[in-house]
Amino acid sequence: MAAFITRHSPLEIGKRGSLPLERPVPEILPTHTPSLFAIAVARAVEVLKKGGLVALPTETVYGLAANAFDPPAVARIFALKRRPSHNPIIVHVASRDMARELANPWPKLADELADRFWPGPLTVVVGRSKHIPDIVTSGGPTVGIRWPIHPLMQAVIQTAGFPLAAPSANLANQISPTCATHVAEQFGDELSLIIDGGDCNVGIESTVVDVTGTHARVLRPGMISSAALSLFKSITQEPREFNPAFPVIPTGTVETFPRSPGMQARHYAPKGRLVIWKWEHEADLHRRMVGEGIDPDTVAILAFDRIPLSGRFNQVHVIPDDPEAYARALYGQLHACDAHGNTCIIVEEPPVSGEWEGIRDRLRRASTPTEEVHIR
Ligand code: TXA
Ligand code: MG
Repeated sequence: MAAFITRHSPLEIGKRGSLPLERPVPEILPTHTPSLFAIAVARAVEVLKKGGLVALPTETVYGLAANAFDPPAVARIFALKRRPSHNPIIVHVASRDMARELANPWPKLADELADRFWPGPLTVVVGRSKHIPDIVTSGGPTVGIRWPIHPLMQAVIQTAGFPLAAPSANLANQISPTCATHVAEQFGDELSLIIDGGDCNVGIESTVVDVTGTHARVLRPGMISSAALSLFKSITQEPREFNPAFPVIPTGTVETFPRSPGMQARHYAPKGRLVIWKWEHEADLHRRMVGEGIDPDTVAILAFDRIPLSGRFNQVHVIPDDPEAYARALYGQLHACDAHGNTCIIVEEPPVSGEWEGIRDRLRRASTPTEEVHIR
């Protein structure tokens, strides 16, 4: 049944833009009491068993889930997201045994990483077993597997008894959703069911690590940093801050693996232009903005340190200055900037250090001009 929602504004200083139009949304089930949780799990499993799609919360971002063993259901994910068929989908499990069954082989390195980081925001790319349908891996020889820690996602997988193929629950190349409302706004009533498990507490997508070789490779940085991963002696890496496709590459190994098809330069992008700038004083920021022809009446500033206070910009959004809280807030802030129709978002440049690499990666992709889009 279609219902209507309105967006709540985030913390803002300065002028506010107009709120977006309301639109029909799917059924959204809450989970904040034990009985609501049980009802939501049962309903999600019922839909998934019939080959339907359900948006489910994970600790990173919301996922658009289908039974990973049901090819027509997985095809519905590609169709609803407008996702290119060459971009494989991560499979979510609720135990190590379930992961092992999907892999061939399941390497020792995967066990080492799982010991330390599962359940959690880490995806391992391993050789696929015969149980995985072609459509999930886009016909490739490997599969990405993740055991998320979010209790709702775990309960759904355990109750269903099958793994879930689930990309982020957004249209291809748009910002990932970190709350149920974001999902509803993306898909409207094209999607029938969303389970509301609250705000995602990691806030950006999982770290994706390829463990098919003797050394691991980080295909997508996330909040589990290369520094944390490099505690494992079999993962030797050097930071490559400015290589958007491969921010970290193992030393002493030859790159022979297929590149991750989802790692387009522009990804995770808001509708308006996004730029990453540094400024000392607000006056510098204003001068540069005017110099580049950016209209202050349709600009949003996202700042954590040098916060403009004059009211000379359409919006100023304040974001926390520690990386974990920043990541948790980031997509919500970008969604809000977009919703207010800003033509440009100026993001204050985050620090260059290991714990910020996932955030810097997402901002870099979001700031890549459309004309530079290319598949790596
Ligand atoms: O945190 C996350 O990973 C979220 C939640 C829902 O789990 N999922 C997510 O999925 O971000 P998606 O599809 O939006 O991004 C998965 C990325 C894509 O860039 C895809 O190309 C890559 O992982 N990927 C998936 N399977 C792969 C494989 N077998 N080999 C290389 N890259 C793969
Ligand atoms: Mg995605």
